Amino acid sequence: MIWLCGDTHGKINIDKVEFFFEYRAGDKVTKDDYLIILGDAGVCWDGGVKDSEVQELLHNLPCTVLWLDGNHENFDEIGKYPVEEWHGGKVQFIREDIIHLMRGQIYEIEGKNFFTFGGGNSIDKRMRIPYVSWWPEEMPSEEEYEEGLRNLEKADWTVDYVLTHTCPEYIAHMLVTTVYPGEGELQRYFDELSQQAEFEMWYFGHWHLDQTEDNFRCLWEDIVEIE
Ligand SMILES: [Fe+2]
Repeated sequence: MIWLCGDTHGKINIDKVEFFFEYRAGDKVTKDDYLIILGDAGVCWDGGVKDSEVQELLHNLPCTVLWLDGNHENFDEIGKYPVEEWHGGKVQFIREDIIHLMRGQIYEIEGKNFFTFGGGNSIDKRMRIPYVSWWPEEMPSEEEYEEGLRNLEKADWTVDYVLTHTCPEYIAHMLVTTVYPGEGELQRYFDELSQQAEFEMWYFGHWHLDQTEDNFRCLWEDIVEIE
């Protein structure tokens, strides 16, 4: 089984996940099942005690945890892990059962194809300290954008699911929240992908709300199962 959830921010918003596996997921979940966190997972943050605690907590879940990067991530820390191949795309194993899904990749998991592309803009970055609590790599590089296009091209622009942290610009404007400037280039990249690619559903996090617009779904408290 595969479930998806929105931002968890280390231990700050992990209750929804713990509650889900305690009371709703049933007792048949194994490490062959997956929870995918759609960015701001907080798996790599202080490179120390906090990270060990978060990783221990995720390791203790009954499933394997896959996560996209969001904007609140320590990209220096993430960069320390080697890039490996897994299910058709590039990943970084933080632990055997905590796996970073990288930008512009397509993975085949349980017979479904997932295009993933993390990243986003921190609206509070002026109050943060560069390379301590904010990293410029939160926004994608030119190579990452291009790799995404190349991989979609190879897949004939058809996948089952698109998983991102933020969302296309026109969807952002439909959300019941304030849309701050700062990630226009990434949102417009997603605008183009959403026009060109065929997909069943596009899931994203970032906005801290649960809202569905056509086949776009923003996740925050809800945890959804991929059928
Ligand atoms: Fe967040």
